[in-house]
Amino acid sequence: MSSITLSTLQQMKQRGEKFAVLTAYDASFAQIIDEAGVEVLLVGDSLGMVVQGKESTIPVSMDEMVYHTSLVARAARRALVVADMPFMSYATVEQALASAARLMKEGGAQMVKLEGGALRLEAVRRLAENGVPVCAHLGLLPQSVHKLGGYRIQGREQSVAEQMVTDALALEQAGADLLVLECVPRALARQITEALAIPVIGIGAGADTDGQVLVLYDMLGITPGKRPSFSHDFLLGAGSVRGAIEAYAEQVKAGSFPGVQHGFD
Ligand code: KIV
Repeated sequence: MSSITLSTLQQMKQRGEKFAVLTAYDASFAQIIDEAGVEVLLVGDSLGMVVQGKESTIPVSMDEMVYHTSLVARAARRALVVADMPFMSYATVEQALASAARLMKEGGAQMVKLEGGALRLEAVRRLAENGVPVCAHLGLLPQSVHKLGGYRIQGREQSVAEQMVTDALALEQAGADLLVLECVPRALARQITEALAIPVIGIGAGADTDGQVLVLYDMLGITPGKRPSFSHDFLLGAGSVRGAIEAYAEQVKAGSFPGVQHGFD
């Protein structure tokens, strides 16, 4: 299998082929996910919650992101490796450039992800100009959980939905290469996916985005506490971790995951 690049994902979008994304935080899981045919390995700052047992992603440090990214990048053979820029590591353009440099040079990431809309346009532009592939992230922004007042669906109000469409188009225009939409109504996710030329990846955003992402520990049913309603325990009935991850990749590509029960109106 050849390596996945941005143009592979672009071509998949143009052909209407769905692609699969999973979070990964270490080499052993990264190897299984990569071998299962998942196109993108996301070293998410969700590691703060599922690996470190913290209450949010906010305490995750740049050193921790670099470390986990290096473990995942070491094992990746085919999948594209995307690393989250942690909270407050891209508040200024200079910080964004320095953080991306660490994640790519020390961690081995092939792309960085940052949360937010209009506020991030200059950082996205400067990263893109400097040859850094960028994945933007709109909808539920976990790093802003205290501002949002909790982990809840975003974009049900007309004004918020309109702002999200405007932000998505502006991020693409600024040079973003991918967009994650988290916890947004499926009709809004469909509208944004159709409006953008770049591939859109959904989580709790319905079945109509170009790709799907889940947090690895959620889809293996090992996250402590309640699993998010938009996720699914793929280990149930799969027999093995490898089987569960293969089932996830197959169902995303076939369009059978997510089902209606995993989305929001
Ligand atoms: O940190 C993460 O795992 C993420 C995904 C939920 C998209 O950002």
